[in-house]
Amino acid sequence: MKVGIDKLRFASAHQYVDMVELARARHAAPDKYTIGIGQTQMAVIPPSQDIVTLAANAAAPMLTATDLAAIDLLIVGTESGIDNSKASAIYVAHLLGLSSRCRTIEMKEACYAATAGIQLAQAHVRMHPDKKALVIGADIARYGLNTPGEPTQGGGAMAMLISADPQVLALSTESAVLSQDVMDFWRPLYHTTALVDGKYSSNIYIDYFQDVFQEYLIKTQTPAADLAALVFHLPYTKMGLKALRSVLPQVTETQQRDWLRHFEYSRKLNRRVGNLYTGSLYLSLLSLLLTDPNLRPGDQLGLFSYGSGAEGEFYTGTLQPDYQRGLDLGLPQRLQRRQRVDVTTYERAFNGQLAWVADDQQTDWQSDPHRFVLTGQQNEQRQYLDRQA
Ligand code: CAA
Repeated sequence: MKVGIDKLRFASAHQYVDMVELARARHAAPDKYTIGIGQTQMAVIPPSQDIVTLAANAAAPMLTATDLAAIDLLIVGTESGIDNSKASAIYVAHLLGLSSRCRTIEMKEACYAATAGIQLAQAHVRMHPDKKALVIGADIARYGLNTPGEPTQGGGAMAMLISADPQVLALSTESAVLSQDVMDFWRPLYHTTALVDGKYSSNIYIDYFQDVFQEYLIKTQTPAADLAALVFHLPYTKMGLKALRSVLPQVTETQQRDWLRHFEYSRKLNRRVGNLYTGSLYLSLLSLLLTDPNLRPGDQLGLFSYGSGAEGEFYTGTLQPDYQRGLDLGLPQRLQRRQRVDVTTYERAFNGQLAWVADDQQTDWQSDPHRFVLTGQQNEQRQYLDRQA
């Protein structure tokens, strides 16, 4: 039985900052941000969006009444949690109108958690093929203003519907995993921004990729040449390119050119959003599927998921005949319609997120065009609004 990704859809903010403008404000060479790091625009998440609203805005438009009735598992992967106890998935299930018989949980292991969610969802659907599972990776990447990590911020949510006979990608049942205690990136409960050893984290990422890639090929006896394209978690798009370059000597020159050409399509949309932690690999997958004219049904794609701390996984999926039908076809136009804001406006949004205090607070939600918005906090409870309710 085939099980995998039936539909996938992305949501982020309606605003972005241009990386050349940000580089100038930080007295950095624009080419460092656009070429050295590989980002051209960065999503500016307003205080009226958090992981709950991003997740609901990503998923709601792609779910039909039949999907809603069949979903009995919702997993939100995130490292931008809003509560130490209650799962963000409960709020998301409520906003989406999912059944109260749906199992709803939040998962955490840095940028890797959505992949763990997909693997659990896949196992669940294999046991219950008439059911569907919704997996959402939702995050806001925050390192701080004027930090080396700043040009690798961003945010958004990727929603994926996992089902039997999927329209987009049939997933392999085998995968290779590596999990070890590494202090490359973490965020203690008292911090709103990540602590990171940037260069070390980039090196660990490559080590993990090489390890799980080889392990997968050996374990499944798959020749590297069988993989049409490799898709990466992209904390910044140059990171994936560095990892890809590290395994190019394993294939012929023709295949090297093919992999590099596919990679350029797979980073197109990530270049315009920035890091979205858990959702990043899957935005890259969507970018590849939406923009690459050289893909064919039956192509086998390799997926590398990495979460600092650290956990990595490599698995594969086979492109299905009607894969375009399950894609978020309007995404390039939505990104194009976003509003460009200046660095001062971006900094105000960055500093204006709801404070982690008990006081009542309000956001400027009226200027946010999305269906689901965070209007503030009252009596220590987050207030969400569905404009269509
Ligand atoms: N023109 C072109 N390129 C230039 C340039 C110029 N004028 N100036 C510099 N560059 C290049 C540099 O040569 C370098 O390229 P290479 O890495 O290929 O050598 C690149 O631009 C970046 O320059 P620096 O190394 O000097 O940049 P930096 O020290 O300011 O920081 C960073 C870069 C370490 C990635 C930092 O942004 C950071 O800490 N980011 C957050 C951590 C991160 O994303 N880690 C990734 C792995 S962890 C993970 O994947 C999980 C997750 O999501 C966080």
